[in-house]
Amino acid sequence: MIRRVTRAACVRGTVVLPGDKSISHRYAMLAALAGGRSEIRHYASSMDCRSTLGCLRALGVEASETGEAVTIDGRGLRGLRAPLRALDAGNSGTTMRLLSGILAGQAFESVVTGDGSLRRRPMGRIIDPLRLMGADVRSEERGLPPLRIRGGRLSGVRYSLPVASAQVKSCVLFAGLFADGPTAVEETVPTRDHTEIALEAFGAPTRRRGAWIEVDPAPALRPLSLEVPGDLSGAAFFIVAAAMLPGSEIWIPGVGLNRRRRELLDYLLGAGLDLAVEHESEVAGEARGDLRVSYCEAALEGPLPPIRGARAAALIDEIPVLSVLGSAAGGGVEIGDARELRIKESDRIAALVRNLRAMGAEVDEKPDGMAIAGGSRLHGADIATEGDHRIAMAFAVAGLTAGGETCIHDAECADVSFPRFFDALAAITRPARGCD
Ligand code: S3P
Repeated sequence: MIRRVTRAACVRGTVVLPGDKSISHRYAMLAALAGGRSEIRHYASSMDCRSTLGCLRALGVEASETGEAVTIDGRGLRGLRAPLRALDAGNSGTTMRLLSGILAGQAFESVVTGDGSLRRRPMGRIIDPLRLMGADVRSEERGLPPLRIRGGRLSGVRYSLPVASAQVKSCVLFAGLFADGPTAVEETVPTRDHTEIALEAFGAPTRRRGAWIEVDPAPALRPLSLEVPGDLSGAAFFIVAAAMLPGSEIWIPGVGLNRRRRELLDYLLGAGLDLAVEHESEVAGEARGDLRVSYCEAALEGPLPPIRGARAAALIDEIPVLSVLGSAAGGGVEIGDARELRIKESDRIAALVRNLRAMGAEVDEKPDGMAIAGGSRLHGADIATEGDHRIAMAFAVAGLTAGGETCIHDAECADVSFPRFFDALAAITRPARGCD
């Protein structure tokens, strides 16, 4: 499906976000392993989180949905059933990598596969530690899905992450629930810590010692009643739209503000954006609050702060839309240490470079990032999304600032993380001269 976007005057109003994708995956998986009924409210409506529910159902878990609430009857740590066919993780790397940690501890064989994009994404990063723990994990070819996992008794390991990846960390920690002793993972670059927080909440003994996170094999997990906060990575598209369009003012209630995810806010505050956090609270260890964002001319005058090192890891899902912001900022933006972007749902560096250039921006492609010259007046173009949700949404925002018409191809891929994204954007978009 092609979505056509034209220039807007500003964005104004309230943005209602879907539940956080990363947190929803973890709550669903842990609820499936708990001993009793859990209720997860504001569960992410994203296709990725539907893939997780589909896999859990195929493993014998009952999960019923009422609106945005999911009730999951946990089968206990040893109660999953052998699936009758390959588990389909769809487009979701998080589903495949986290679930593999759980499957590695089950006394049956399973196969996990996914769509064309997921079948091109590297799984060696989870195969290696799971094999170290004693699981028999085979990949179809060169570490690519499908994965065939024969689980069983695992040994606890101490594992230093070779890449900054919350998915790999989480896979190993989940496998640690089924090990014969403590399992520890070291991360030298901090990544999102929803798994550590959720393990603690569901009753799995978890410790943090410096860069090491340790989990003990759990005798049982307790069921919980939880509410997922709004997805900050989804909010990023609206925040950037407000940052680019004079006269904008938006309100985003109930956003997840986990300290390892809120780098986006610190980064934009550092860039001079007019952004306020209100009504902060914490539920089950996860911070949340309301965001008010207003356009501020000064924020786009100079270059944006460079995105490198630990900041690149912390902003990994927001870089697509921050690149669009960088193209409008006076001095552009430099992005480095972000090679991981090449192995996301698409090669995001290539997709960003190609589409930014198509809209008239000057971009220098690097192996691990790009340098975007600022101050570009973007014009409408045909956007090849490569079926990647974050590319589709980032360029929809670019289209709001561009002259002419921007055609987002395969726009339905936004559903992977944000169903009804285009409706939510249209609801706050004011046409030219509508913001006086
Ligand atoms: C995620 C971790 C990140 C992120 C992805 C979600 C998670 O991936 O890009 O969208 O929920 O753990 P990596 O672990 O591959 O960096």
